[in-house]
Amino acid sequence: MSKDKVQIFDTTLRDGEQVPGCKLDAEQKLVIAERLDNLGVDIIEAGFPVSSPGDFNSVFEISKLIKNATVCGLTRAVKKDIEVAAEALKPALRPRIHTGIGTSDSHIKYKFNSNRDAIIERAVAAVSYAKTFVEDVEFYAEDAGRTNNEFLARVCEAAVAAGATVLNIPDTTGYCLPEEYGAKIRYLKENVKGIHKAVLSCHCHNDLGLATANSIAGVVNGARQIECTINGIGERAGNTSLEEVVMILRQHPNLGLDTNINSKLLYSTSQMVSQKMGMMVQPNKAIVGANAFAHSSGIHQDGVIKNRETYEIIDPADVGVNESSIILTARSGRAALAYRAKIVGYELTKIQLDTVYQEFLKYADTRKEVMDEDIHEIIALTDIAIEKV
Ligand code: KIV
Ligand code: ZN
Repeated sequence: MSKDKVQIFDTTLRDGEQVPGCKLDAEQKLVIAERLDNLGVDIIEAGFPVSSPGDFNSVFEISKLIKNATVCGLTRAVKKDIEVAAEALKPALRPRIHTGIGTSDSHIKYKFNSNRDAIIERAVAAVSYAKTFVEDVEFYAEDAGRTNNEFLARVCEAAVAAGATVLNIPDTTGYCLPEEYGAKIRYLKENVKGIHKAVLSCHCHNDLGLATANSIAGVVNGARQIECTINGIGERAGNTSLEEVVMILRQHPNLGLDTNINSKLLYSTSQMVSQKMGMMVQPNKAIVGANAFAHSSGIHQDGVIKNRETYEIIDPADVGVNESSIILTARSGRAALAYRAKIVGYELTKIQLDTVYQEFLKYADTRKEVMDEDIHEIIALTDIAIEKV
């Protein structure tokens, strides 16, 4: 079955870089941008050019460098922002301006002290102005997650009529439930006149831990772009994690959706971004965490040693991880001990294993993890002579 492509819009260098204490310098941004291009992302949001001379410069340099992906710059619905972004994107082979405005009642009242009609006017003016510089204009309706659907459809319709090629529906505060977010996308698909001229995009934040689930609900209901970051980094609880959405679509072929991402580069890209940003990846992070393919309980280890698929739904090689690891702890069983002992050179008979296992349990109870070098010590603690093979 041929699959529909979901565009991957990476915003590691813009929304991701808004993490406090994780600012990147221009050189680091260029290296990451090049890696994202090799990874196969379709769009790189390189920055917010009007925000600082440094960000302008990074977007400009990334625009010169990138050969495959579209390079995108963020703006508010403000003329000056759009002019500066257009200037920064000038060298790009495929430039995109990303402009927009808050559309929820809360944003309209407290941020803009305005009203719905005036917000639509500003949205149209921003998209129309951006279109005078570039063909590809993405419109975002900030806080769309908490925006009334009928009003959101009116804003989107006006943005498409003004020439928007992509409609970004951000759940800015990470508030929506997956069903609700999916229904919002479906509603727009069914109620916005001219929607066939634009791609609907999911931009979900993780305040309730639902960013990935919401993005998937979005594409299942008709969106064809996901905005995400490497390791899910971003302001507050972060953005949708790129590696998660890519692997969900790949592991569920029945959804009929796929991306252009070379998944074998996911782990190394995660490590690279983590190092450059000085932000560790939580060990239990899906797909790229240190424990994502580690097994430490006896029952699981026994299964994985017999057949990896008993407890793993992803082949680690598919995401660039060398192999699953069998970690020895006090919860491990004989199968795992025999397996690791063999790796370090001991082929244990059943009787030998029984003896070594008793010694192992005493040893493991005093440690968080038993390492390969400890196995030699454990074997030496038993009275039996075991030859290394
Ligand atoms: O979360 C959000 O609403 C955003 C927009 C600026 C696109 O990041
Ligand atoms: Zn965001």
